[in-house]
Amino acid sequence: MKSLVFAANWKMNQAPADAALFMRTFLGQYTRQNDRRVLFFPPAVSLHAVVEAIHDRADLQAGVQNIHWEDSGAFTGELSAGLARGAGARYVLIGHSERRHLFGETEADTAKKVAAAVRAGLTPLICVGETLPQREAGETLAIIRRQLHAALEGQDAGVVASVLVAYEPVWAIGTGRTATPPDAAEAHAALKAELRELGGGERSGAVPVLYGGSVNRSNVAGLLAVDDVDGVLVGGASLDAEQWLAIARS
Ligand code: 13P
Repeated sequence: MKSLVFAANWKMNQAPADAALFMRTFLGQYTRQNDRRVLFFPPAVSLHAVVEAIHDRADLQAGVQNIHWEDSGAFTGELSAGLARGAGARYVLIGHSERRHLFGETEADTAKKVAAAVRAGLTPLICVGETLPQREAGETLAIIRRQLHAALEGQDAGVVASVLVAYEPVWAIGTGRTATPPDAAEAHAALKAELRELGGGERSGAVPVLYGGSVNRSNVAGLLAVDDVDGVLVGGASLDAEQWLAIARS
């Protein structure tokens, strides 16, 4: 049986009071399931509300959506991995397509952020994905393997085996279009192959690879049925507690 990961990326939504209300609704109806973890990525200001709500649930964890690569210092407006860890985060999204495409995050930046996360004891959830022109040019597998390779550049096998990865085609994020199960299967298999190569063995081949991009309660089961899809990273449909419950229970 697969060990599944359901991750909610709230992006720039859910103030602390909204996050607390969401968590009350969710926790009131979600009972622990041994085959899965549920992760929440609230905006940093709402991290405390989520951490407080889930404190006694080992199957539920929280993370931040971004970090700076330095450990501390004069970086106004930035958040270090250590600060996030101190506030209760256990995970961090790295290389989300919105960071790459809206904020100019480079592949070299993702490597520095992975290193910073590891130093502080945060688990990186590394996001990769191709744009529509890249897909149409037949570059999908080369692009996502290169992004993953770059993010894990210089890391030892232990670190490679400890991360999570998400395949999020850029053209599927927030658009209502999802990759077909065969497209997801091909991309996930390529990422697993890259992970085995980077980590030199079976342990790194067991790293969970999640699918993200317009996942909702209607299409989640079809995606999870794909062999190498070990979970989902969900934006819009994770903002509504009832819909997120339906997804996390699928
Ligand atoms: P949507 O689920 O809104 O398409 O967003 C996906 C995403 O970017 C999750 O990180």
